[in-house]
Amino acid sequence: MGADIIDGKAFAAKLRGRIAEAVADLKRGKGLVPGLAVVLVGEDPASQVYVRNKGRQTLEAGMASEEHRLPATTGQAELLALIARLNADPAVHGILVQLPLPAQIDTAAVIGAVSPEKDVDGFHVINVGRLATGQKALVPCTPLGCLMLLRDRLGDLSGANALVLGRSNIVGKPMAQLLLGESCTVTIAHSRTRDLAATCARADILVAAVGRPEMVKGDWIRPGATVIDVGINRVEGPDGKARLVGDVDFASAAEVAGAITPVPGGVGPMTIACLLANTLTAACRANGLEAPAGLAV
Ligand code: GUN
Repeated sequence: MGADIIDGKAFAAKLRGRIAEAVADLKRGKGLVPGLAVVLVGEDPASQVYVRNKGRQTLEAGMASEEHRLPATTGQAELLALIARLNADPAVHGILVQLPLPAQIDTAAVIGAVSPEKDVDGFHVINVGRLATGQKALVPCTPLGCLMLLRDRLGDLSGANALVLGRSNIVGKPMAQLLLGESCTVTIAHSRTRDLAATCARADILVAAVGRPEMVKGDWIRPGATVIDVGINRVEGPDGKARLVGDVDFASAAEVAGAITPVPGGVGPMTIACLLANTLTAACRANGLEAPAGLAV
């Protein structure tokens, strides 16, 4: 194996430590405690695990955490009323509505109801537009985490050929905008792209976020490239047990890449750390302060 392994778990732990220090400074200096409200509708088991982890890590960083658990039968009006209360609450700086929402609820309307200044998911069209026009924005957590890992590994990204594989609103599109903001030459590829292997071969930076287990093969990758694997796919291993794999075939890619994130332990731990970073950013900006350097765009 030739590639360096990018240790996202260690990087996320360091980032949480930096955030906790900044939170302690805010408390001491300004009497300000950043607060995150997480809303969970229904009982989706994976969502329950995420919400529990978010709450725990928020408290560990010294922030205030509140959870609002609503039954799966909750109507749209009731959810919008809760969001309106959280928008108006000065102790709440960040609001996250866990997705997916039950079918009776219009997800776009819910995302649009969260105040853009408290939209720590970065999903509101105002934040999407701010990011796309190079203004200060709250940015979706997973691509923000990928950018931090890339900056840490490569320093200046300007002029690099960056390929984003995947065009979702949550990862692919904001990732492309962030890389463009770093002056990369950005290509977005997806399921209809012709000759994906040749497209990958030009990339100095490859971010894979397609949700297809081990789709990107080592012989597609440019030698020495930096590979960020956002995929988290549960597959059955040769022993019949479930295991997690990324969108990149790790074994063959690690022979060719210069550096690569593993799954698990790569991008995954960065997502919640960046949610904390966004909550800190939102709390600072709500009080006329700059967000700490490197945590926000
Ligand atoms: N469900 C899965 N990922 C996410 C995310 O990043 N934000 C929210 N709100 N829900 C999710």
